[in-house]
Amino acid sequence: MIRLEDASKIYRRRGEQVVAFRPTSLEISTGDYVAVVGPSGSGKTTLLSMLGGMLSPDEGQIWIDGTSIYAGSVTARASLRRDKIGFVFQTFNLVPYLTAIENVQVPLCLAGVHKDDQHRHALGLLERVGLGDRLGHKPSELSIGQQQRVALARTLANGPPIILADEPTGNLDPDSRACVLDFLDELHAEGRTIVMVTHDATAASRAKRKLTLRDGSLVTSDSDGPARAA
Ligand SMILES: Nc1ncnc2c1ncn2[C@@H]1O[C@H](COP(=O)(O)OP(=O)(O)O)[C@@H](O)[C@H]1O
Ligand SMILES: [Mg+2]
Repeated sequence: MIRLEDASKIYRRRGEQVVAFRPTSLEISTGDYVAVVGPSGSGKTTLLSMLGGMLSPDEGQIWIDGTSIYAGSVTARASLRRDKIGFVFQTFNLVPYLTAIENVQVPLCLAGVHKDDQHRHALGLLERVGLGDRLGHKPSELSIGQQQRVALARTLANGPPIILADEPTGNLDPDSRACVLDFLDELHAEGRTIVMVTHDATAASRAKRKLTLRDGSLVTSDSDGPARAA
């Protein structure tokens, strides 16, 4: 379970303030599939970054499975992020000089997985996203859609129970978009929690719950979870 407790965020830069996220409380149940929608600048990425342990709220707290993630040390937060959270971004952050399979092996290597197992596991993941024949290609030798699928395979390498995706289908061709969405459906069916920011109505319709943000406030939260804007 992910829980926001009166969490808010104001960006301050050279004396100017931008209220990016107004105090909000919200629960996301384990295994839920949530779409976050709203106009550009409404605070979607800010929300996702706070949920993922990458951006501390100015006020309030964020809990993941009973741990207040910004209350502990940076080290504790880093290990919680590594064990529990997988990110998928619109820009994939693949390492340009590594091949597809090496990119997928990076998190396995960091987790201390044996070299042979890294290769076997990464191969399985790339096959799962339909890229079993592109193992030795560098990102620049892959289409945008293929790069996103490599990124997805890399995200899944350590089996994170929570997947946070920021416009994962933005800029993709229809086939890759369908592949990414099918894959997210599978991950949801496996019991993982998915929170996906999207502009894409088709993508949003695949989720079980929709959160709508406007101007840093949660304006609707359809279906089950208790949501209240303070
Ligand atoms: N690092 C930053 N510094 C200052 N303002 C920011 C920063 N990041 C985002 N903002 C502002 O915060 C608001 C919310 O941004 P964001 O969460 O990125 O919205 P969205 O993802 O919905 O487009 C916007 O007004 C944006 O300009
Ligand atoms: Mg954004």
